[in-house]
Amino acid sequence: MNVLKEKGIPIDKQIKTWKDIVQRPYCRSHADNYTRTRQILLNGIEVEAWGFKHHFIRKSDNLELNKILAKIRRLEDMQQTTMNWLCPANQTVLDTTLGYEQVAVDLTAWLAQNEPDEYVKETYNFGLLEDFDHLYRYSQFEFMIEETDPNEILHKMTDVLLARPTQYHHNCNAIRIRKPYDKDKTSPQTKVNILTLVSAEQQTHNFYAEHGFMYGNSDLKRLYAEIKDVEEEHVTMYETLIDPNESMFEKWLIHEFTEVCNYYNCYKDEPDERIKLIWEENMQMEIGHLQLAAEMFKKYEKRDPEEVIGTELVLPCHFECQKKYVTKIIESEVDKRLGTNQDYAKINELPDDWASYKVQEMTGKDGAPSEQAIRLSIQSIGRDIAFADEELLKKQPELLERALEKKYHSPNTVKPDEYKKFEKIKRIDYIEEK
Ligand SMILES: [Fe+2]
Ligand SMILES: [Fe+2]
Ligand SMILES: [Fe+2]
Ligand SMILES: [Fe+2]
Repeated sequence: MNVLKEKGIPIDKQIKTWKDIVQRPYCRSHADNYTRTRQILLNGIEVEAWGFKHHFIRKSDNLELNKILAKIRRLEDMQQTTMNWLCPANQTVLDTTLGYEQVAVDLTAWLAQNEPDEYVKETYNFGLLEDFDHLYRYSQFEFMIEETDPNEILHKMTDVLLARPTQYHHNCNAIRIRKPYDKDKTSPQTKVNILTLVSAEQQTHNFYAEHGFMYGNSDLKRLYAEIKDVEEEHVTMYETLIDPNESMFEKWLIHEFTEVCNYYNCYKDEPDERIKLIWEENMQMEIGHLQLAAEMFKKYEKRDPEEVIGTELVLPCHFECQKKYVTKIIESEVDKRLGTNQDYAKINELPDDWASYKVQEMTGKDGAPSEQAIRLSIQSIGRDIAFADEELLKKQPELLERALEKKYHSPNTVKPDEYKKFEKIKRIDYIEEK
């Protein structure tokens, strides 16, 4: 459908009662695996939609426009409450954390396979392996602290094992900066894909910032601090793919269009009838926002909105099992790093003065919390918590061998030889398969 031709719900009819804003949450244990990921993502989308309109008004002295922005911004905020609070109260911070990283892995994998721009795709594949490794590190604590099998949350839809080790995700943040797309040549799909992922990564960062201190365990707090820092790098990496020459009106149009596309995709995929209705209603609300963004764009930029967002909806967030794709990327890119010219390089191609070595040395001097997570698991059960098919699991020592930087690793790094011993300890000895 050409969404610009749809009416949606007019914004004056969108204000809701508190009762309608706060909906009954999904069930922690019985909901469809990807209902949780959709809820987490849509919360991130709404946070970005709200924040963007605050930036816009701070730069605008146009009262007519500012009144519209103020009205829509409060609606975005109400939507954000609905989305975030669909999360059940009995879902722990670590449970939700696993959900966030599952979003990052399965969303990034989907986007990489549905991205027309090769450079953007390469960037997704690069980030994918980092979030995949985060999931592995947090899973150790899910088992140790919550005594929960990570698969209770992940439903075996996403593997848990090492990828590019987290200690190597710390870069000079300046070399995270990517080359932006050209706003006049890039497809609407690329624009929507990037804004979707920026929103997800930004909210992941914010969730760790707001919740990482909630466990009385220093090792876990440090892990949150360490991974939060990587999410900051991820926001930098993905947001700098966006053309900074887009006007604020153009950016507003893309924001509303991205919201419509995300709700549409979630509505289309959702098996829970009650939740599906929530996605549908919010999609209609977003079409109402888009109508006003398009109207303002025509009035002040004197351009056709179709030039920016096209005539077709994009599917930016279809969730499905991505194990096969992720395995392929691990095997081909575990030894990849950020290059010096906004590109990528293998470890052995890096110059001796590569800017990230210094950052890694400074942050990892007292040991990496992400390595400590594995050390604690070894102390506790003799091995790591890891789930993948046997063939892939056996490859952990070999993958790690390739992933380690010869020039630097933190003093508590778990070595490939130690990983070789894990095979002897069978999962049944410490975790009951359900
Ligand atoms: Fe919204
Ligand atoms: Fe992550
Ligand atoms: Fe991330
Ligand atoms: Fe909106």
